[in-house]
Amino acid sequence: MIIKNLRQILFLTAMLFMGAGTIARQKTPTNENGYKLWLRYAPVAGKKIQEHEETLSNIFISSHVSTAGVIAEELKKGLSGMLGITPAIHQSKKDRSYLRIVKQPGSEHLKNLGKEGYTIKTIQQKNNKIIFIKSAGDAGLVYGTFHLLRLIQTQQPLHNIHITEKPQIIFRMLNHWDNLDGSVERGYSGASIFTWNDLTKDNLQRIKDYARANASIGINAVVLNNVNADPRILRNDYLQKIARVADVLRPYNIRIFLSANYASPLPPSSTPDVIKKQGGIGNLATADPLNEQVQQWWKQKVDEIYRLIPDFGGFLVKANSEGMPGPQDYGRSHVEGANMLARILQPHNGILIWRAFVYAHNNKEPDRVKQSYAEFQPLDGQFDQNVILQVKNGPLDFQPLEPPHPLFGALEKTNLFAELQITQEYLGHSTYLVYLAPMWKDFLNFENHQQKIAHIISKKKTVRITGIAGVANIGDDENWTGHHFAQANWYAYGRIAWNPDLLIDSITNDWLKMTFSLDPSGNKKLLNIMNSSWMHFADLQTPIGLPVTTDPGMHYYPALKQRTNMYWKINAKGIGYDRTASGSGYASQYDAVNERLFNNIQTCPEKYLLFFHFVDWNYRLQNGKTLLENLLQGFQQSINSIDRLKFTWHSLKDQVDEQRYKEVQQKIDLQKKDALEFKYYFVGFLHTFLQ
Ligand code: GCU
Repeated sequence: MIIKNLRQILFLTAMLFMGAGTIARQKTPTNENGYKLWLRYAPVAGKKIQEHEETLSNIFISSHVSTAGVIAEELKKGLSGMLGITPAIHQSKKDRSYLRIVKQPGSEHLKNLGKEGYTIKTIQQKNNKIIFIKSAGDAGLVYGTFHLLRLIQTQQPLHNIHITEKPQIIFRMLNHWDNLDGSVERGYSGASIFTWNDLTKDNLQRIKDYARANASIGINAVVLNNVNADPRILRNDYLQKIARVADVLRPYNIRIFLSANYASPLPPSSTPDVIKKQGGIGNLATADPLNEQVQQWWKQKVDEIYRLIPDFGGFLVKANSEGMPGPQDYGRSHVEGANMLARILQPHNGILIWRAFVYAHNNKEPDRVKQSYAEFQPLDGQFDQNVILQVKNGPLDFQPLEPPHPLFGALEKTNLFAELQITQEYLGHSTYLVYLAPMWKDFLNFENHQQKIAHIISKKKTVRITGIAGVANIGDDENWTGHHFAQANWYAYGRIAWNPDLLIDSITNDWLKMTFSLDPSGNKKLLNIMNSSWMHFADLQTPIGLPVTTDPGMHYYPALKQRTNMYWKINAKGIGYDRTASGSGYASQYDAVNERLFNNIQTCPEKYLLFFHFVDWNYRLQNGKTLLENLLQGFQQSINSIDRLKFTWHSLKDQVDEQRYKEVQQKIDLQKKDALEFKYYFVGFLHTFLQ
């Protein structure tokens, strides 16, 4: 092995001190604040990887690759961090070992993988191993590069790589609920990273790091502002700043979308709180979608946006829900409202995403979970081809546990995006360690109308556009997500969005290996704890399927008394909500198989029992214990799981740097305290009905 420079000598000396384990780990890991996320590029040891040093030191990137700059930059960062080498980047071929990054738009095989797909292969040429990353598009090469770096970070052998990747879903989005003043609705990790009042170089650097993280997991679209949209986001001064952000995101294959307020064509509101008021940024007397002046107004606005941001993705609209304006204010339907905007975006290749989360607008139905299906299912087939209906995973509202939304599978001719929530609004904010991948997988594996949701949102049959959106948990905290382990939710979301069939354990393992440098048994312990954290959280706050147990404002503290009647009933006989044929009839919104399953207390999955049924305290569940006993047992198991987490984390003290160790430990202590309070409150509340 040729030692090339001083940096590498220092690196190798450091490695010698790290011992012989396959995982490079310093005795006292240096403090980390979590800013680097899973792209820490910590030193890796081991013959397996070092054999490839020669190859990785000499990189060829075809000159006509528009993303060559960011690819080279990432490789330099990654390889110097992990292997201590500063690779030479060539744009013309030389007869040396190489990592070769090649764009081949003409190749049939690559064309079938699309512009984002790629292959990575190791090929033996004479005495040299050459690694090829190939794609038909510039974006695929960025994704392929991040994939190779991940293989090195996770210590995979490189001598015989044979990888073919292609995203299963077209739009893999983050939805930021960020307001123009820097606050983040349901955000628990500081202020918005989009500092519109002062977009400095430092902020743009952070946005670039955000783009790198997103590209490394395949996210290719972001909505920058809150669905409760402030109309001013569409003003020219904001658009100019957004164009600067778009320039930073573009090389990472990320397109910008904006949430649009339906009342934007109206004059500014006279009330200071523009959000949710009927005020806009125009001067028209109406925002009626059938009015020609309104259409003209939107057309000019859209043209203006595309002049500034030629690859602008389109709008996301929350209309006629929770006080937001919409077409129904003018007696028009969702279809009329959405198609009007979609037709204006269409010539620019833009799409219009219309949210199906409609709540408390014109609703006369007491069981709120029925509203969304009732409003949208009859509209199937009436939306334009570039309209997408974005449907939350559940019919209620991002509960820790709720059945999947019945619209999945029920719409055959409408593009559908699934909306998940990465930020932990009802899941313990950034205090609780709750790993959401198992919850999302549970949702994606659910079948309605004989189709798995994972396939409904990824396989094109009668629709053109597929997508998934995750409400982001990102803020300007040093570690981005408030809790170090909440980074795993951002990470897992991206990987699942790329391929909803991926196994959770492989995602979690990758994240753990890249985020911490633990020994394999440490990884395993954390993996088990992370995997069970969702169900244990649900046992505490949505036990046996009882939704909405927290306070109406923060959605964090126990507030059972305030939530009864509206969300569930309780009395001396039992607890729950009858949504069967004898109750609200909600179960009939599913296909016949699920309807039967949910309607019958004997077959209803126990995790949804209190969501669909009003159940006697003495009703015996499958384990032979009564409902009440099960509730109490669940609370206790939930608390025990936090003790286990604390114990496990403590056992890893020597392997984690002090800063992250302490920060996580503090979170666990707070989690335990708050969970105990929750449990005492809940048990006390139940007792008042059991006298
Ligand atoms: C929830 C959440 C709101 C959000 C809304 C939505 O109700 O609490 O903050 O605006 O969902 O998804 O539109």
